[in-house]
Amino acid sequence: DKGNHRHFMEKEIHEQPEVIGHTLAHYLDFVEGRTRDIPLPFDFSQIDRLSISACGTAFLAGSVARYWFERYARLPVDIDVGSEFRYREMPISPNSAALFISQSGETADTLASLRYCRSQGVPIAAVVNVPESTIARESDAIFPTLAGPEIGVASTKAFTCQLAVLAALAVRAGVQRGHVSPEQERELVRFLSEAPRFATAALKLDDQIEKLARELSQVKHALYLGRGTSFPLAMEGALKLKEISYIHAEGYAAGELKHGPIALIDENMPVIVIAPHDRNFDKTVSNMQEVAARGGRIILITDTEGARRATINAMETIILPDVPEIIAPIVYALPIQMLAYFTAVFMGTDVDQPRNLAKSVTVE
Ligand code: M6R
Repeated sequence: DKGNHRHFMEKEIHEQPEVIGHTLAHYLDFVEGRTRDIPLPFDFSQIDRLSISACGTAFLAGSVARYWFERYARLPVDIDVGSEFRYREMPISPNSAALFISQSGETADTLASLRYCRSQGVPIAAVVNVPESTIARESDAIFPTLAGPEIGVASTKAFTCQLAVLAALAVRAGVQRGHVSPEQERELVRFLSEAPRFATAALKLDDQIEKLARELSQVKHALYLGRGTSFPLAMEGALKLKEISYIHAEGYAAGELKHGPIALIDENMPVIVIAPHDRNFDKTVSNMQEVAARGGRIILITDTEGARRATINAMETIILPDVPEIIAPIVYALPIQMLAYFTAVFMGTDVDQPRNLAKSVTVE
């Protein structure tokens, strides 16, 4: 039931504040300011590497999580798309653990990666939205996302709930590995607890984003740029746009611009820049200046501080509240989903069931 929404995707975008809060509460004790003691098939302090495999949007959630595990837990992460991971015949060290991320829990390439790790004797955990799925059954432990059923082929609430679980796990790993002190744990848990409120604030930007989407629906190509955790988000923005609006879009690490894609920039190329005012901000702004100097049209997704500092002509800005760094990927996911959604609505595509795609990809 879509309720009063035009599409399941719209409904699922709007459910995010609630389901993110629900998911976080499963992993975090907000009252005590602690990560919960969830049963793990391995101890984070006993492993020296975490291998992540997933496909599509789930892979991009894992790609954000790599930054978190490395930053908060000093745990090296190896991540690959399922279709590569399964055939890499990666040498797996005895002190590693494997993590799989899948909304459906049925994705063939992710499942095959899991079975490869099983054959290598590594402990296996999975972040899944469907607890009765094959991936869930074949894992030693599951970390559920409590997103509820996701009907739209384009993943939205499952993605932000995956991010919520992974952020909580990264903090937990940091605690177990001795890199997050009790005070830091309390602070990070408080920051995470604020994600639903900021997601609600992001949803209120719908009128402005719809206007920008009207313009975006006129173009043939678009580029998304970001650094740090905003790099996988740039790829997620591009994936979302291409899968439902059929506009060709690419997501790039902003620093890669001058290694090729800058050749594409002219007045017909919109560039969507995802840049909260964080440690990477100044570098991303200089990439934006390179785009502006070549006549590229910029849509900057930032916060109030970022908007104050980045003054570039011919730029549109989507301004989110200033949010703690750890929740930025969760909050910034919403405007990029909305931008793709409204663009697809203007294009008149079948938003919930885009051509050539299936909700669950059970063949390789
Ligand atoms: O069910 P899964 O999370 O394993 O699915 C993985 C991908 O097929 C999925 O995320 C796909 O990329 C989505 N259509 C993206 O919106």
